[in-house]
Amino acid sequence: MIPEYLDPKFIPKHIACVMDGNGRWAEKRGLKRTDGHTAGEKSLFDVVEGAIEIGVEWFTVFAFSTENWKRPAKEVQFLLDFNEQIIIQRQEELNERNVRICFLGRRDSKVPKRILKRMKDAEDLTESNTGLTFTVAFNYGGRAEIVDAVQKVIDSGVKRVTEKTIERNLYNPAMPDPDLVIRTSGESRVSNFLLWELAYSELVFSNTLWPDFSRKDLFKAIKEFQDRDRRFGGLGES
Ligand code: IPE
Ligand code: IPE
Ligand code: MG
Repeated sequence: MIPEYLDPKFIPKHIACVMDGNGRWAEKRGLKRTDGHTAGEKSLFDVVEGAIEIGVEWFTVFAFSTENWKRPAKEVQFLLDFNEQIIIQRQEELNERNVRICFLGRRDSKVPKRILKRMKDAEDLTESNTGLTFTVAFNYGGRAEIVDAVQKVIDSGVKRVTEKTIERNLYNPAMPDPDLVIRTSGESRVSNFLLWELAYSELVFSNTLWPDFSRKDLFKAIKEFQDRDRRFGGLGES
């Protein structure tokens, strides 16, 4: 059900989320950083349920960045295994909820073949679903995406480049730009997320650490979004 403080006519079509603060959440409790990642799974699926509940069409999360390889090898390995386990354990239930699963990012040799295969299998399993499109940005970097798009354009031999040319060569050309981007944990930065796509997104920064984030916080962020005046460089509504 849509909370009564939200206007059902202005639910953002695409919400993207930087799930941040797992490590700090764990450290505050005297736990290992990786326990914070584990605790974040509950938030992720509560928020996905919330997005389904209110009819969001596209929901994208930042799970692993092209810069996260810089972390200690043990944490990187944990994150790889953890994301693989989530795909395996959740794909059936997401499929039953009519969710289409997509992955966004560089599918290069840094990502173990086994995980690339799991990603492809989850996409194939859910490809004809018509409900929420749930995109997991994995080995994703906004600059890498633009570089890869430009390389594809060069390889195609195109001589004149427009914004459309770049858009058509992004990882998922069918994905609309996010209307709302949420980042948790009190950091007010973009950290290389969706650089091309968030040109006119509304940004909401929440102080809540990701493992404490829930669909209620998602709805509060949408409320903030609905109170804004999007102008796209023009003069807007007011
Ligand atoms: C977000 O939490 C998860 C990933 C980046 C994979 P962090 O691990 O960045 O947690 P903090 O920011 O160090 O608290
Ligand atoms: C962004 O968070 C990446 C993900 C949430 C996957 P980081 O924790 O990696 O970003 P920085 O290092 O604080 O900028
Ligand atoms: Mg972080």
